[in-house]
Amino acid sequence: MEPQTGQRIYIAPFQGITTAVFREVYTRHFSGTDKLFTAFFNGIHNEKSLRSKQREIEKTCHHGIPVVPQILSKDAGEILLFGKQCYDLGFNEINWNLGCPFPRVARKKRGSGLLPYPEEITEILTKIFPALPLKLSVKCRLGYNSNDEILKLIPVFNRFPLSEIIVHARLGRQMYKGSVQTGAFREALHLSAHKMVYNGDIFTPEGFQAFQQQFPEVNRWMLGRGLLADPFLPELIRGISPSAQPLLVIRKYVDDLYFAYRKAFNDNLRAISVMKEFWSYLSLSFDRPERVFNKIKKSTAFDGYEDAVNFALSHYVWQGKGGEKFL
Ligand SMILES: Cc1cc2nc3c(=O)[nH]c(=O)nc-3n(C[C@H](O)[C@H](O)[C@H](O)COP(=O)(O)O)c2cc1C
Repeated sequence: MEPQTGQRIYIAPFQGITTAVFREVYTRHFSGTDKLFTAFFNGIHNEKSLRSKQREIEKTCHHGIPVVPQILSKDAGEILLFGKQCYDLGFNEINWNLGCPFPRVARKKRGSGLLPYPEEITEILTKIFPALPLKLSVKCRLGYNSNDEILKLIPVFNRFPLSEIIVHARLGRQMYKGSVQTGAFREALHLSAHKMVYNGDIFTPEGFQAFQQQFPEVNRWMLGRGLLADPFLPELIRGISPSAQPLLVIRKYVDDLYFAYRKAFNDNLRAISVMKEFWSYLSLSFDRPERVFNKIKKSTAFDGYEDAVNFALSHYVWQGKGGEKFL
């Protein structure tokens, strides 16, 4: 495969997983990515709201790769306040989450729940743009209930100087199930005056190539579950020679992440909870995912966790491309 140059690869935000600790450790061990996103922030009511979460946005980049903080809100004032605080911290872009599908969020017209209301989105963008000191991108879905929603939204987005639009090519009500809807993404792509980023179900280099053939005009791609399951995915997509000993790389990566979380949480057992969440994806790239994950899932103390990881890494085979299991 020819190395893929000119293609930009972003790491998707995952609440509770793609934390600052993860971003720092991932980019230390793997190359091939161009942009990082924080998971969504919300509840930004005043100058102090961000303080308790400041650790998540301490770094504007990790190993030279820029971070874009994300906000989930339907309140122009809150988005502006968040934008101003991020600007003061040195960021040059924020991202507006219009994709979160969870009913608890969507019912309140937030995340993908706002997609059926283009007038409200227009109102919010009209209020924020004149006062926003940094760039704004959006991350959305094709709609909440129907693909038609994106066709009404793109003309709205075209009226504002967004830096890019990331589309997870599903509907909000699909959650993470069912297939991505490439036809609807294509329609949105053709309507859009903005740079478009494709997101959804890129799990293997072959899968990436298939999406690339379908959307030759796209050169920005966001990888989520596929990258969590197989951290080599961006390098493989770019044709960077795979490591001869992938398990050694994985070992260093997971150990580094584990000790970084222990440090971040002052040796609190929360470090194990986060690692379990992370292993629920990584285990998919082994030959026996359930066996790898079950032992780790059952651990309740550091010793048990370490034993489970040692066992997994010495008894099971790394196959990669674990994201395929989501298909
Ligand atoms: C557990 C979980 C947490 C997520 N958290 C966020 C989030 O905070 N912000 C966001 O924009 N998307 C979030 N997403 C969606 C992903 O960023 C991504 O859009 C989705 O997984 C589709 O991409 P993929 O098929 O490559 O995984 C989350 C998804 C999952 C499964």
